[in-house]
Amino acid sequence: MENRKLDQKFFLGLESSCDETAASVVSVKDGKDPKILSSVVFDQSMLHVDFGGIVPEIAARAHAERMDICVSNALEQAERKLSEMSAICVTAGPGLIGGLLSGVMCAKGLSLGSGKPVVGVNHLAGHALTPRLTNGVAYPFLMLLVSGGHCQFLLVKGADQFERLGGTIDDAPGEAFDKTARLLGLAQPGGPSVEEAALSGNPRRFSFPRPLLDRKGCDMSFSGLKTALLRTRNDLVDRQGGLYKQDRADFCASFQAAVSDVLVQKSRVALIEYLALCPEEVSFCVAGGVAANQIIRNCLEQVAAEAGARYIAPPLKLCTDNAAMIAFAGAELYLLGKRDDLSLSARSRWPLDSRKPALLGGGKKGAKA
Ligand code: KG4
Ligand code: ZN
Repeated sequence: MENRKLDQKFFLGLESSCDETAASVVSVKDGKDPKILSSVVFDQSMLHVDFGGIVPEIAARAHAERMDICVSNALEQAERKLSEMSAICVTAGPGLIGGLLSGVMCAKGLSLGSGKPVVGVNHLAGHALTPRLTNGVAYPFLMLLVSGGHCQFLLVKGADQFERLGGTIDDAPGEAFDKTARLLGLAQPGGPSVEEAALSGNPRRFSFPRPLLDRKGCDMSFSGLKTALLRTRNDLVDRQGGLYKQDRADFCASFQAAVSDVLVQKSRVALIEYLALCPEEVSFCVAGGVAANQIIRNCLEQVAAEAGARYIAPPLKLCTDNAAMIAFAGAELYLLGKRDDLSLSARSRWPLDSRKPALLGGGKKGAKA
């Protein structure tokens, strides 16, 4: 029997691209078998509650104030020291620039103090590689990344090789969930509150649009949904003078059914496209905050079963933003030889597949997705 000592490496992850300040320690043995030793997430939603959405300046300040505490808690819970880390992996984009800067500056400070290298990680890659962290899925695999800012089908070939098969041409589903909650006076973030209200609602009471289903390919659109919901809500309020609890529940259930139908139909198309490219490895994975939605998870599981694909939906805590996914994606990049230095900069826009034309327009800051 081989008596070789396993090469165990530890990675610190920092995440601050939106409204979660997070730090985590992940270990990897001989480049495999990742383990989450700690995952600390400070959810800022209470700080933004009075504003109906995330205020970037408040988010950035809270990240700056909290990141060092999250890092020391993550190291303490993992029972590891900074000096034992192989690298400090930090989300360098895409996201809100103030928050990204807080994380990147903190990572640079830690690097300078410890002599450990920094690895800049794309937040979307963090989500997209999560099924490898949780289930050890082999490359290639099909990923539906569905979050607050993004929605895309990706052929994932490696830690830094992503091919976008399609995506939303306007809003992301998470954004639509958040707007729906706002229109109905439900709490933010909208996803969990809409999902909860929908439990007692009738998904067939309101008929909301399912755009682009008749169009070839797996691009999607969700912006028409909120306009339809707004119009239907206003009509009902005009007629009956307000909304009853049951109306809200029915709106939520009908909205959720529309989002789910679009994701289901387009996942079928994406799987066909994926199978034409990679017929031998068929794993269909979902990630991102909206993948925490139980109805959507279950519907997508059926799509995978129809296609004979293995289905992986990470645990809810690893669907929404966290730093374990950043530590792990950084570990994969580190093992490929990637190192950054103090010149690492934060990028508010950073598409995973820059060879494809921008889905969401360009502008001075570059392509969004
Ligand atoms: O991945 P994530 O934490 O942050 C981004 O990278 O965007 O996703 C946050 C989004 C929010 O829009 C939130 O409303 C949505 O994910 N979300 C959900 C659920 N939990 C979070 N959407 C639907 N159902 C849920 N249970
Ligand atoms: Zn995210």
